[in-house]
Amino acid sequence: MSDAPGSGSNPLLDGLRIEPTPDPTTLVIFGASGDLTRRKLLPALYQLSRGQRLPARFSVIGVARSEMNDDEFRRQFHDSLKEFAGVEKADEVSGTLVRGLSYLFGEMDDPALYARLARTLQESHAPDGVLFYLAIPPTVYGKVVEQLGAAGLTRPSTPTGWRRVIVEKPFGTDLDSARALNAVLHQHLEESQIFRIDHYLGKETVQNLLVFRFANGMFEPVWNRRYIDHVQITAAETVGVERRAAYYEQAGALRDMVQNHLMQLLSLIAMEPPITFSAENVRDRKLDALLSIQPLLEDGAKTNVIRAQYSPGWVNGSEVPGYREEQGVSATSVTETYVALRAQLDSWRWAGVPFYIRTGKRLAKRTTEIAIQFRRPPLHIFKRVSPTPIASNLLVVNVQPDEGISVRFEAKLPGSRMQLAPVMMNFRYGSAFGSAVPEAYETLLLDAMLGDPTLFARHDFVEASWALITPVHEAWRTSGPAAIPMYEAGEWSPREADAMMAADGRRWRTL
Ligand code: BG6
Repeated sequence: MSDAPGSGSNPLLDGLRIEPTPDPTTLVIFGASGDLTRRKLLPALYQLSRGQRLPARFSVIGVARSEMNDDEFRRQFHDSLKEFAGVEKADEVSGTLVRGLSYLFGEMDDPALYARLARTLQESHAPDGVLFYLAIPPTVYGKVVEQLGAAGLTRPSTPTGWRRVIVEKPFGTDLDSARALNAVLHQHLEESQIFRIDHYLGKETVQNLLVFRFANGMFEPVWNRRYIDHVQITAAETVGVERRAAYYEQAGALRDMVQNHLMQLLSLIAMEPPITFSAENVRDRKLDALLSIQPLLEDGAKTNVIRAQYSPGWVNGSEVPGYREEQGVSATSVTETYVALRAQLDSWRWAGVPFYIRTGKRLAKRTTEIAIQFRRPPLHIFKRVSPTPIASNLLVVNVQPDEGISVRFEAKLPGSRMQLAPVMMNFRYGSAFGSAVPEAYETLLLDAMLGDPTLFARHDFVEASWALITPVHEAWRTSGPAAIPMYEAGEWSPREADAMMAADGRRWRTL
C-alpha cells in the first residue's frame, strides 16, 4: 500500500502504518514494450517509489522483442508516466528510477537472450533478489519459464538471493491447458516462487473483505444460511471490447471475468475463517469454498448459466456499435459479452443460499459490488400501520468505483404515524481515511517483492475454477452455433438473466 498524499491528515492513521520494505530487488519485465507495462507496471513503480516503498537498491531490466536501447526505454518510461500517471515532467522520483532502468531485446524462445540476461545480471551487480514479470502473451509463458530454467536463472546465485516469477492472466483457457501450464512451471519453480496475478485481489476493497469479516465481532455470527437469503456479485462495465477483439473473441466473459476475478470474490465471501492470516491458511480456506460449489451444469447449463452479447445501443449518452460490428469481431460471432450464473455451495454454512454472479460489457453503468441480502424478520409487526412490505437488510461492498460499504436497514419515517422506510448507512474509503486508494498493481508488485503470495492465485485454485467452468464451455461448444441471446448496449441485463432470477422468486439489484 502506498502512502498517498493526505493520508497523514486522519488522526486515526497516525502511527498506525507499519510498512515493510522489500530486500534489494531486480525486476525483469518480459513484455517491456507492451501495453500492460506502459499502462500499469511503470506507473505503479513510480507510485511505489514516491511512497518510498521500493528497496534502496532497485533496478529494472526491460525485455521485449522490439529493438530499443536503454535510452529509448527510459523515454518510454517517461511517456507512460505522462499518459497514465499524470506526471508531466521528470522529477526526482522518476529520475532515481530511470537511473536503474535498462533494456534487452530478443526472441522469447532464443537461448541467447537468456544468456545475455544472465550476463547483464552478473555484470551490473544487480541485486540477486530477482522478480521476473511475464507481461507477455499467454502462449509464451511456458517457453519463457523453460528458458529461464535452462539458463539457470530460476535459482539465486547467492545464499541471500531469491527468484520469483509473476504470471499474468489468463492462466490457461480451460482445465487441461491450465494443468499443462502449471506442470511446466512446476518443472522449473517451486510453487512458493510462482505469483499468479489476479488484479482484483490487489484492490483495496477486496482485501478489506477479510478484515471486515474476520476483524469484527458482529458480522461473522450472521454470515451464514440462517440469516442470509442470497448473495449477488456484479461486475458491470460500460466499455465494449475496445481493441482486444482478437483476445476477446477466443475468451468471452466467462473466461475473461468469471473464472478468475469473480470466483476470487465469491471465495472471499464464502470462505471459512482461516486459522491465521498466513498465505497458505487463507488460500486453503478459499479453495475449500470454491470446491464446495456444485457443478454448474447440474440443472442443465441453460438454467444455471446465461450468456448474451451486446447489440447496438446507447451508453453514457453515446451511440455505440454492437459486438459483431466491432473491429476484429466476426459478423456471426457467438462470443458472450455477458454472463449471469447461479452457484450453489454444498457447505454447512451456505447450503441453500444461492450466489448469483453477473458480469458484462456495455452495460448501463460501471460498477463492481457484492450485495449480501439478509432474510426478512420472521414477522411484520408493523403491518397494520405500515402495510408496505419490509425491505430486507442489505450489506453492499462497493468494490469500485465508489469504494466503501453500505448497510440498508428499516427506519421510522419522521412524523406522528408509524411509517417505515429503508435507509442506508455508508462507509466510504475516501472520506473515512482521507487518502487515495492505491492501484492494485502497486500492492501486488510490492507483495511479490516481499515474497507474500496471499493475494495471488495458487495452482489448485486456478485449476478448481477451470474445472467448474470448462464443462460450460464444452456444453456451449457442442450445442452448435446456436443463436446467442442479445441485450442492447446500455441496458442492465438480458431477459434471460432476469428470468433466471424470477424463477427463484428474486430480482437483480437495480444499480
Ligand atoms: C480484465 C479483463 O482482467 O479486467 C477486462 O480482461 C476487464 O476485460 C478488466 O475490463 C476489468 O478490470 P477493472 O479493474 O477495470 O474492473
